[in-house]
Amino acid sequence: MAETQDYPIERPDLPRRATVYEVGPRDGLQNEAEKLPVDVRVRFVDLLTEAGLPAIEVGSFVSRSAIPQLADTDEVFARIHRASGVRYPALVPNLKGLERAILAGVREIAVFTAASETFNQRNIHAGIDESIERFGPVASRAREDGIRVRGYVSTAFGCPYEGEISPEAVREVVHKLLDLPVDEISIGDTIGVATPTGVYDVIETLYDSGVTRGVLALHLHDTRGTALANVYAGLECGIATFDSSAGGLGGCPYAPGASGNLATEDLVYMLEGLNIETGVTLPKVVAASRYLAGELGRRPPGRYLAAVWGQDVPVAVETGEP
Ligand code: HMG
Ligand code: MG
Repeated sequence: MAETQDYPIERPDLPRRATVYEVGPRDGLQNEAEKLPVDVRVRFVDLLTEAGLPAIEVGSFVSRSAIPQLADTDEVFARIHRASGVRYPALVPNLKGLERAILAGVREIAVFTAASETFNQRNIHAGIDESIERFGPVASRAREDGIRVRGYVSTAFGCPYEGEISPEAVREVVHKLLDLPVDEISIGDTIGVATPTGVYDVIETLYDSGVTRGVLALHLHDTRGTALANVYAGLECGIATFDSSAGGLGGCPYAPGASGNLATEDLVYMLEGLNIETGVTLPKVVAASRYLAGELGRRPPGRYLAAVWGQDVPVAVETGEP
């Protein structure tokens, strides 16, 4: 007699399309020891545009002394080739940042706070409530100008200074951001400690409090190798926007141990395997990462990139032709 199958395989309904929100030119480069020339940053963004990424975070309009690596974001914006239909957001911490962004012709900004007081103090010199107060006039002015606003909640699964963070703490910040209002909220695993259980807990707590899945994105760092498992958990919860960084570069200088964003190549490879449409051409993302690797003098840490490193890239990088 055949044995009973105790674990029937059930395939969940996953979203059919997903948005890959590329943070390489911002999160990827802000943690590099070296400040890359504007030319290189521009070329990197242009190669990512050629790869079909629908949203590319180009840089940040923050204090020069806080993040010197991204100090010339104004100039980068002036020189990139913006493709129609592609979003080119930038990080903005205050009104001064918004003014710079408007002058640079930015049509989407991202304000950023955290679920941990201590991290927020270190990162933007403000507590959570103080940061939300700061964002009020930023969001209002952005709305007047028709600028889309994203809100980041960092350290949503753990903080380098405070340790564990509760889903309720994340829920509180998310609602404060939604009240501003913002159009999208990215839930950040800044130091890469989340596991799928944590993702289910946070998303469930948000849904139970009335947050709709369409406004949510996940920003995962692969520090402990759990980022793709967490993406899958997010997909199971109906999340369809994921942040990632070409080659898996990145981290936040104010979050010790925050190496390794989820690599765009790893994310796209998995989504393709799941038959989830992204519009992204994987070999062209590899081409963008290879270009950056040449400039940095080392291979970025992404897993897919490592697997194809010794192979020819099946795209002509210079012409962008297949
Ligand atoms: P502060 O020192 O409290 O502010 O910094 P301040 O208003 O006293 O300004 C200090 C100096 O900065 C002044 O210049 C200002 O003019 C200047 P000084 O008079 O000394 O010459 N300044 C600016 N300059 C250019 N653009 C601006 C701007 N604002 C002030 N917008 C502040 C507060 C928020 C400005 C600062 O702490 C800061 O810029 N922090 C940014 C930190 C940052 O970018 N962190 C990384 C991004 S967050 C992240 O990576 C996490 C994420 O990826 C998600 C995740 O992984 O979880 C998003
Ligand atoms: Mg990050």
